[in-house]
Amino acid sequence: MRRVGILLSGRGSNFEAIARNVRAGRLDAEIAVVISNRAEAPGVETARSLGLTALAIPSRGLEREAYDQKLIEALKQHGVELVVLAGYMRLLSPAFIREFPMRIVNIHPSLLPAFPGLDAQHQAFDYGVRVSGCTVHFVDEHLDHGPIILQSAVEVAADDTAETLSARILAEEHKIYSEAIGIVLSGAFRIDGRRVKLENRNHAS
Ligand code: GRF
Repeated sequence: MRRVGILLSGRGSNFEAIARNVRAGRLDAEIAVVISNRAEAPGVETARSLGLTALAIPSRGLEREAYDQKLIEALKQHGVELVVLAGYMRLLSPAFIREFPMRIVNIHPSLLPAFPGLDAQHQAFDYGVRVSGCTVHFVDEHLDHGPIILQSAVEVAADDTAETLSARILAEEHKIYSEAIGIVLSGAFRIDGRRVKLENRNHAS
């Protein structure tokens, strides 16, 4: 399994980090298509400038199920085997998730299950945590909830603001997302309930 489809809605820095790792040969994958639900997402422009196929499929005005059917069609047309959510700001329908069982991954900027939902870095900062971080997980029908593939912890410094903390978390996101995608594509794991057991890796097995 190698063919990845990226879904994004905005900036696209995680997508760009993945694309650069693919290009540099650090991640054995092929980005088959990048799809945005917002035509104006900067990630679309980045994808095109990297010579990748990027589609804007606007979601405005469409019911979730109808929109997701369009997405499924486009992803299948491009032979996508693994769906990578990279700042994709819409909930996926159960029908979409059934179409790609354990074949959808997401990155979230907190140590789940703490601080799911929007603005996780600010939520964590305002809560006063000493450690936050990011999580790559499989996507199931609940928000920010599926089995965890990788996490990385980031300490909160005394002089941090929510913004400086977010920037350090983002730098970690850019590292672990490609690593997690590599693991999923290689098949070197098995899922046991909520636990993702990684082969060839000590700490999470
Ligand atoms: C990241 O913080 C990611 O964790 C969250 O959405 C943000 C997307 O940023 N899911 P970018 O578009 O990848 O720059």
